[in-house]
Order: sequence, then C-alpha cells, then structure tokens
Amino acid sequence: MSRQILVTSALPYANGSLHLGHIIEAVQTDVWVRFQKMQGHSCLYVCAEDTHGTPIMIRAQSEGILPEDLIARVAEEHKADYRDFLIGHDQFHSTHSPENRYFTDSMFERLQAAGHITRRSVRQAYDEKAGMFLPDRYVRGTCPTCKALDQYGDSCEACGATYTPAELIEPRSTITDTAPVWRESEHLFFALGHFEAMLREWVKSGSLQDAVRSKLDEWFDAGLQDWDISRDAPYFGFEIPGAPGKYFYVWFDAPIGYLGSFKAYCDRTGLDLNHYLRPDTATELHHFIGKDISYFHTLFWPAVLHGSGFRRPTAVHVHGFLTINGQKMSKSRGTFITARRYLDHLPAEALRYYFVAKLGAGVDDIDLSLEDFTARVNSDLVGKLVNIASRCAGFVARGGGRLAPALADATLYAEFTAAAPRLAALYEARDYSQAIRDIMALADKANQYVDANKPWALAKDPARAAEVIAVASQGINLFRVLMVYLAPVLPQMACKAAAFLGAPLARWSEIDQPLLGTPLADYEPLALRLDPKQVAALVETTGAAMATADSAPSKPLISIDDFAKLDLRTARIADASAVEGSDKLLKLTLELGETRRTVFSGIRKTYSPEALVGRHVVVVANLAPRKMRFGVSEGMVLCASDAADRLFLLGADEGVTSGLPVS
Ligand code: 2FM
Ligand code: ZN
Repeated sequence: MSRQILVTSALPYANGSLHLGHIIEAVQTDVWVRFQKMQGHSCLYVCAEDTHGTPIMIRAQSEGILPEDLIARVAEEHKADYRDFLIGHDQFHSTHSPENRYFTDSMFERLQAAGHITRRSVRQAYDEKAGMFLPDRYVRGTCPTCKALDQYGDSCEACGATYTPAELIEPRSTITDTAPVWRESEHLFFALGHFEAMLREWVKSGSLQDAVRSKLDEWFDAGLQDWDISRDAPYFGFEIPGAPGKYFYVWFDAPIGYLGSFKAYCDRTGLDLNHYLRPDTATELHHFIGKDISYFHTLFWPAVLHGSGFRRPTAVHVHGFLTINGQKMSKSRGTFITARRYLDHLPAEALRYYFVAKLGAGVDDIDLSLEDFTARVNSDLVGKLVNIASRCAGFVARGGGRLAPALADATLYAEFTAAAPRLAALYEARDYSQAIRDIMALADKANQYVDANKPWALAKDPARAAEVIAVASQGINLFRVLMVYLAPVLPQMACKAAAFLGAPLARWSEIDQPLLGTPLADYEPLALRLDPKQVAALVETTGAAMATADSAPSKPLISIDDFAKLDLRTARIADASAVEGSDKLLKLTLELGETRRTVFSGIRKTYSPEALVGRHVVVVANLAPRKMRFGVSEGMVLCASDAADRLFLLGADEGVTSGLPVS
C-alpha cells in the first residue's frame, strides 16, 4: 500500500555556512526520502532557513544590514550547497514567512485557549548600553566553581559546572563589554508538564531509538519544567499576539517552520494540508535531527503539536555528531570543512557514498577519516561497482551494441534481485552501513562472475562472439540491479547509468525484468578515482578558505570612532611573574615613559615570565582599571592570534627616528 510521508531535517540557522555536519544529516534524510519514492510511496521532504533569534539580529547589526537581507543572502548560499550535494528538497522555505507566522500564531492561540500558557516574571541580565536583555551565552565572566576566567553565562568549559549568569564572578556583556545589571520582565511559558502522560504514552509507541528513549526516561525522572517561549524586544522574530514588545523565542517557531514550509508546498501544489496534520491521520511525519536537539524534538515539539490539536510525529530519527579524523571539527585544526569547501575540491557523490557507508541506525558519532574515505570510495565505487559496467560495456559495443536476448545465468540474476526485500528493510530502518556492505558483497560476486567467464579470452575466438555478448550482458544486468539499489545514494550516477542502459532506474521494481535485446548507449565514465592530494587539501590550514573562515568577524563591527577611543602606547616589560592560583595569568609590570603600571595578562600558556622581561609591547593605556581576584589590572597588553589560534604578542619597533612617518 502506498504511504503518504512527510519528512524533515533540522533547519539550518541563517547566519552561517553549512558544514559537513549539516550535510551528513541532509544526506541521511535525502537517501531515506529517495528510497521511499523509489518504492512508489508519496514522500515529501521539506526544510527551511531557521531565521530568528539574537545571534541573527546581532550578526546583521554587525554587518550594518537588515536581518531580512542577511537571511536572504545566507538562504541563497545554503540552497546552492544543498543543491550541489544533490539534496532533493520538495520545499525549502523560511521561518520568517507568512506561512510560519500563520502556524506560530494559531498554535500559540490554541495552546493559550487550552490553558497551556502561563506567565511569570523572570530576572535576567540586561545590557544597559545595548538596551537589551542578554541571552546566557552573551554574558561571560569567571566561573563561580573553579574560577576559570572568561566562561559563558550558562556553563564552564574548564570544569563543566552549570549555573546562571547571575552566579558568574565579574560578569560582562559580550556585546558591549560592560557589566550587566539585573532586571525583571514578564515571560510566557509553555506548561510542558501538562503533557507528561501523553508523552510517556507516545514514547512507548515505538517511534524512538533505544538510546533516545533512555534519555527521555532520565528527563521524565528529572521532571518536566515549564518552557520559556518569549523574549523581550529588541529581538528578531514574531511578536506575540496580545503581548506587545514580546517575541516568540526562536526555538518555539523553528519546528513550527516544518509546518510552515509544508504549507508553502501545499499552497503551491494544491495538496490537502489538513490531511497530514489531523490527529487521526494515516499519513506519517518523520523528523531527522542531531542528538543535541533531541529535547526540543521529543518533548516540546510533540507536546506543542498535540496541545494545538495536531498529530504527533510518527518518528524522530536521531543521529550522532560528525568527527573528522577522529576529532571534533575545529577551525584551528583546519577540519571545520564547509559544504562549499568540500564541493570546491571533490564530487558530492563520493561523500554521500562514504557517509551512507558509515551511517547506522543508532546515535553513535560518525567519523570522516580522510584516508579511509579515499580508500573506500576508490575501492567500492570505482574498483567494484563502476568496474563491472566499464569492463563489460566494450564487449557489448564491439558486438553490435545490443544486449543478449536472454540471461546467461538467470539463477545469479535471481540471487541479486532476491536481496531487494532485505535491502529495503535496511534502508527503511536507516541501517545504511549494513545495506552498503550487502550491496558491495553482491558487487564482488558480479566481478567474480566476469572473472570466471573471461570474456576477453572468449573474444579471441570469433566463433564464440555470442558467448562474449552473453557474459557481458549478464554483467551489465547485474550492474543495473546494483545501480537501482544505490540510486538513493548516488542519484547523479544513477541518472548517467540510466542513459547508458537506455532504461530508467527510478523504481525499485524495475529490476523485476532484466534488460534483454535492448541497445546500450556509449559508455561514459561513471565515477573517477579520488586523488589523495585533493582529499588532503580539504583540511590544509593555509588555504584561502581557512583565511575566509577565520577572518569572519566574531564580534560586532566597530566604527572608526570606537577605535579612536583607544589610547595605544608602547611600554617596556620591567618585570613578569606567574600568578599563584591561575594557570592563565601573568602579572606584568610595565614602564610607560615615567610611570609604572601593573597589568594581568592571560598569556601564561604561551610565554614564560623570563622570556618577557625587557620586551617592548603595545598597551591599551586608557582601559578602565579592572579589579581582579589577584589585584587591579591597569591596562591591556595586545596580542593577536593566527588561524591556528596561536598567540602573538604585539611588539613595538624602535620608533620613527628620521622624523618621517612610516607609510
Ligand atoms: O540547531 C539548529 O541548528 C537549529 N537551527 C535546528 C532547528 S530544527 C527545527 F526545530 F527547526
Ligand atoms: Zn569552572
């Protein structure tokens, strides 16, 4: 029976480039969707830009443009990246759209009418200079637990402690570097606890992976807290109906964006939206996400849907994080690979294939080992799969260009097609790595068949010409079956193979009949070997792409007037010593002309005190004195960092002696 399936993957934020972490999820989703389509099901894949929130507002401000212009520009970049990775969205929309506003407002109003929205006052950090409340991540200070300097307002990277920004020692706003004040403001909350029984029942319905279910048990045990869904102006988002100056928190309207995108699709095509959203519908709703956003998708989202009178997700499919050569992606190691950087070097299908060969149904992290990637693609795709077609095509062409009228080995062909139900079950369960292992085992068999029947030897005897065609045609038919199995993963190669075979590879059922007596087109190479040098170039830290990635401003732009406020002076380091109780700080005594100053500088990891005495450095002389745990710091010594995050202390030269300015 044909199924009606709606599929989503997580919406990318509209303030940064897609990287390979986004691409692995898109590939996992796209393969599943293409597989379902090949089974003859109606399967629609929608996605969108995730456009709201403080980071997008700040980024637009820092570029001096409107958020609308920023998100339009980033959307174009994202769409091109997805397109070039052959991601077949049926609709790619935006959360900043009338369709999303429609659903956000109406779902909120339904939740409110049903008594699921509560209000209470919240005390929060407020930046008086910027005139805005500060999200936790925009406050930094000293960790209250381990005293590590410069930690985020919600958790410490040094000791792992979690806390509120109010607990930080010497908190600062990252926007204006001023000390925040604490202000009360009324917020709106979604009463998640009202849905506990419903969620427990939904979790039991079998829609979730075991690891996700265990995590949910932990969350249930910890108790479901009300969820703050509002933010105060200024905020880039949707203003809450009936609450002037309050905006929906980005995470409230982001998943609703799935529905907004689908509405845009339905409006465009005339499909009945309600048929997919009614609570009693027989249609399916599948979300593909990374494990970091499970809470939003397995608790808040089903509850918001249910509370608004809509269906709940059929399943939430969670994947692990992508690592590169066994480590977290990192800009300084050069392993933060953007989608475009990859595409500038290598073909999309090679990576699609590799990701699929590594993806299981669980939530384990997936490693892209560049050496393994090269070896695997060259051995499987070029050495095994394409090899079958390329070695057989010539014999058919030389024998008149038509396939044999009957199969030389119908039993072997039947063995290949008999794998279809098992492979379908593996794709359905997202156990792609096992599917690929099975398919490659068949590819080995196809090559063994050709090896054993030696068409090149038969071809030496003109009397055996028909046998040559029969063997080669058998090989081509086996290749065709494998290409159907791999079409969800390699859509472009399948398209080229279909042109060569003169028959479509669009449906799984196509393999029920072998190709007999039909003409083949000229064979064009279907995949090329990966050059290890090209692959290595992906992570070279000296490339232009790294420079671009790292030169992107990480803080808001400042005006020349702001810059002119700095009083930069040269100084001689008269004394330097380690600070007891801090592994980062050095205490420096600086001579600025006739005066001496004490400055605490976080350069202990890079410089020993002895190496510094006598050096001439550049100092911000008019920085307001800061009281620190170890004393008062009366200025700042300037350092710069490079692409690898190494520190460089800025030195002063001997100065202009000729009286002419240096140009
Ligand atoms: O974590 C993220 O990148 C979010 N932009 C994902 C949103 S998914 C959905 F809820 F919209
Ligand atoms: Zn700490």
